[in-house]
Amino acid sequence: MPIHRGGGAWWRGAAVYQLYVQSFADGDGDGTGDLAGVRARLPYLAALGVDAIWYSPWYPSPRSDAGYDVADYRSIDPAFGTLADADTLIGEAHAHGIRTIIDIVPNHCSDRHPWFRAALAAAPGSAERERFWFRPGRGPGGGLPPNNWRSIFGGPAWTRARSPDGTPGEWYLHLFSPQQPDFNWGSPDVRAEFEDILRFWFGRGVDGVRIDSAALLTKDPLLPDMAAGGEPPPGTHPFVDRDDVHDIYRSWRAVAGDYAGRVLTGEIWLPDATRYARYLRPDELHTVFNFPYLCCPWDAGELRSVIDATLALHAPAGAPATWVLSNHDVDRVVSRYGRADTSFGLDRRDHSQPVDLELGTRRARAAVLLTMALPGSVYVYQGEELGLWEVEDIPDELRRDPIFHRTGGADPGRDGSRVPLPWAGTEPPFGFSPPQAAAQPWLPQPKEWRDLTVETETGDADSMLELYRSALRIRRAEPAFGDGPMTWLPAPDGVLAFDRVPGGDGGGVRCVTNLSPVAAELPAHTSVLLASGPLDGGRLPPDTAAWLRTGPTDGGPGLRAANRAVGGGPGPRTANRAVGGARN
Ligand code: GLC
Repeated sequence: MPIHRGGGAWWRGAAVYQLYVQSFADGDGDGTGDLAGVRARLPYLAALGVDAIWYSPWYPSPRSDAGYDVADYRSIDPAFGTLADADTLIGEAHAHGIRTIIDIVPNHCSDRHPWFRAALAAAPGSAERERFWFRPGRGPGGGLPPNNWRSIFGGPAWTRARSPDGTPGEWYLHLFSPQQPDFNWGSPDVRAEFEDILRFWFGRGVDGVRIDSAALLTKDPLLPDMAAGGEPPPGTHPFVDRDDVHDIYRSWRAVAGDYAGRVLTGEIWLPDATRYARYLRPDELHTVFNFPYLCCPWDAGELRSVIDATLALHAPAGAPATWVLSNHDVDRVVSRYGRADTSFGLDRRDHSQPVDLELGTRRARAAVLLTMALPGSVYVYQGEELGLWEVEDIPDELRRDPIFHRTGGADPGRDGSRVPLPWAGTEPPFGFSPPQAAAQPWLPQPKEWRDLTVETETGDADSMLELYRSALRIRRAEPAFGDGPMTWLPAPDGVLAFDRVPGGDGGGVRCVTNLSPVAAELPAHTSVLLASGPLDGGRLPPDTAAWLRTGPTDGGPGLRAANRAVGGGPGPRTANRAVGGARN
């Protein structure tokens, strides 16, 4: 497979599609997506133009947390298929030029994992229990948890286990749900096991891993209470971003180094952004997700600050940035950008705000051109390319997310971003399941999604899907995009403008995004490659972005220059019609 963009390793400029298996495509008609469904849709992904697929967990799991509760790390959930199906899929994807990234969940497993079952059956102090965090309780009869830690999903982070004789026994730690016991990374068994799991999948042709909850793995072995009053200073938290977590990634990097072209990407949410860079040291992870960008409001000044901070943090490590607008844990981007508050925070998901979907969609279209023009790699969460919105009215009894249940509904949770994709037709299941499938999709699809199916959007020049297809095609063909430098241009308030110029002849791409309430003059260019919405003569309307071709003589004058090349002409009438060929 080709290595392209930036001339370095493939992942430095890749476009990665996050595929949430249970909601992508249902091959066998049980209402849940599966690997047969993915295999049938590989041509769709190849035509979309992505370089890699990241699969959310595909392992056997009781799915207390949508598969992030793994019962067997070396197999495939029978509801999704078999290990042989995964092997076939990896090979077929490679044949389409698409690499495979899998999700490794090392902080915790399922309470059905054989190690945890064995730990429950074993005595306190046993080697089996040493792989987890078992402790006696505090207070009379050990009836209180060992410390005051709270679960990230709500409620206490400890659950009392029953002793083999049925009496209440020790407590075990779970930073997420009680069905997700935390591993003790001080245990050599745990370390050896995960290195072996990495080898198992790399040996099957997997090209990379996304590391779940990557900053949480190690804990202060004294398990101290959390002090009252806010976040502890960086590096002193008893279970977030501890210094000893880096040893794990050094050993994983060594494992990855035994195979060619493998990538390690960390899911790292940190309150202090400067700590990200430590995970990107040359002997640790290759990339980390850029959550400050994802959480940033639709505001030119704030976005520019996040972009600058991101690039400054990555530069010393020589690591490429990642740019992410959404994933399976956050609100769909068209909904977020359609609210009065366009920022996102994991701890303040709010579905009570009104959503202007038309505005949100217009902004999301502009945002994707901004995002895909930035230096580094980009992630697309399935359904983002269709402009799906957050489904906020899922009936409570159908909600699956433990966040919803463990907060007593105070937090609506993440189900609304996980609804099965609409592929074709005018009624649910919209081609998600085969015709005459016995079962309904595992979460209900809004009937309005008939306007957002792949079938409906295909060939509609104004659709989100065709915008993504054009953007990914141009991004792939354009040497200026992906890894490499960018240069900000002077621009009016509320407008972000920057150049991407490859080495060589000086021609490049100028990305301009208007987040202000008034139309902005387009800067100098020789042609419009792509615009997220109709242009207003030579002007860029609010909440619109454009990619402009620049020649060697267009450099530097900024937005106030007359739009020489456009000459006030109409520009592209329809949003997605690529004007002027991308250089191949
Ligand atoms: C990560 C996953 C999320 C999951 C959690 C626990 O944040 O992205 O979906 O619930 O880890 O595994």
